[in-house]
Amino acid sequence: MRQKIVAGNWKCNTTLQEGVELAKAVDAIVASEGADDVVVVLGTPFTHITKVVESVNTDRIGVAAQNCAAEAKGAFTGEVSAEMVKSTGAEYVILGHSERREYYGETSEILNKKVALALENGLTPIYCCGEALDIREAGTHNEYVVNQLEETVFQLSAEDFKKIVIAYEPIWAIGTGVTASSDQAQDMHANIRAAITAKFGEEVAEETSILYGGSCKASNANELFANKDVDGGLIGGASLKAEDFIGIINGF
Ligand code: G3H
Repeated sequence: MRQKIVAGNWKCNTTLQEGVELAKAVDAIVASEGADDVVVVLGTPFTHITKVVESVNTDRIGVAAQNCAAEAKGAFTGEVSAEMVKSTGAEYVILGHSERREYYGETSEILNKKVALALENGLTPIYCCGEALDIREAGTHNEYVVNQLEETVFQLSAEDFKKIVIAYEPIWAIGTGVTASSDQAQDMHANIRAAITAKFGEEVAEETSILYGGSCKASNANELFANKDVDGGLIGGASLKAEDFIGIINGF
C-alpha cells in the first residue's frame, strides 16, 4: 500500500507566532479526528521549524523545510544546509518547486545537488515537477514532466529513488484557483508512474507516493484523491487555515 500524504507548503507566510498557532491548531484537530492512515506534513519557513517540531506530536505530523542549500556547508551566506535542516527535527524538504525554479533560477543541476544532500542527511525530498500553461496548451506536458524527472531524480539509484515523494504541480493551477480536473490529474499521475515503472520497475513505481498540488482545497480534494494514482496533495493557500487543511486531509 502506498503512503497517503497531505503536505502543507506555507511558502513565505506567517510570523513565527502565527505559524506555531497554526501548527498547534492542526495538531489538535489531527489528534481528535484521526485520519490515521494519512501522513500529515507541515512545510514551514526555516525560522519556524524548531518551534513547530516542539509544538506538534511528531509521531503524527512531520515537518518539512521548503528548500535546502546545494552545498554541504561553508561560506555561502544566507544558505541553510540539509544537515542544518535535519538537526532541527524536520524530516522532509520540498525541492524543485516551480517558484524556486522560476524566481531563484534552480536548474536540474542545482536540484540534483540538493536532492543528493537531502538524502545523505536522511531527509525525505518532496520533489516537485509540473508544466506551465503554454506547454499544457501545446499538448507536450507528459513528455515535459517526464523530462524534468529524467534530468533529476531518475538519475538516482532505485534504492534512493524509493526514499523520495513526487509532487505534480501544474504551474497554471498554483495559486490561481484553477485546479486540474480529476482526469487531468489522474492522466499525469499515471504518466509519471509509467515513467517510474520504465526506469525503476513496477515494484518501485507502485510504492512511490505521487501528490497533486495546485489550488487543491477541501471542496475538490475528495475527487482528486479518489483517483488511483493520486496519493495525496501538496497544499499551498489552503494549508494556511487549520480547518481548510483538515478538510483536505479528510478528503481521503
Ligand atoms: O506547494 C504548493 C503548491 O504550489 C500549490 O499552491 O495550493 O496555493 O495553489 P496552492
